[in-house]
Amino acid sequence: MTISRIMEKMIAFSEGNIHDIDHFIRVWTYAKTIGELENIDDETLFILEIAAITHDIACPLCREKYGNTNGKYQEEEGTLLVKKFLSGTGLSEAQIERVAFLVGHHHTAKGIDSVDWQILVEADYIANATEGSSSEQSINNFMQRIMKTESGKRILRSVLCICAEDDDICEDIHDPCLRFQR
Ligand SMILES: [Fe+2]
Repeated sequence: MTISRIMEKMIAFSEGNIHDIDHFIRVWTYAKTIGELENIDDETLFILEIAAITHDIACPLCREKYGNTNGKYQEEEGTLLVKKFLSGTGLSEAQIERVAFLVGHHHTAKGIDSVDWQILVEADYIANATEGSSSEQSINNFMQRIMKTESGKRILRSVLCICAEDDDICEDIHDPCLRFQR
């Protein structure tokens, strides 16, 4: 299946939950953009895009089963769900396993050892930060300690109007939206 077919399938899976659909579309857009800006290879980008589209696949189940979308529950349930979701899509076993690994680790920032995992975590964080769930301190900590790609850092700064310390013109351009100016 192409990325667009998998996107169509995931939209249908979400049964009209606009928040969920809007979230994974944005995570996919950030992941694809960062992946291309970082020049990752085509196969890694393909896996990353599918993982971004499906990363929160367990949210509806977790809401019903646990009453919340705690990251650890999502990772456990999502690993199984995404394998079932992708079976019959033409992806190889190895590709499905890799997507399932990424879905199963998208809330885990410790031990990141690959670019697809790194970018998925960054893209999800950027999308969540724009939903207003992150404090200024959390954003700065994440940018300094977890983010590794320069593209991801630039995009997070741009989206939230965070100025780099050496950015002289930013004050004129973004005032008064500089909630996070340092
Ligand atoms: Fe997410």
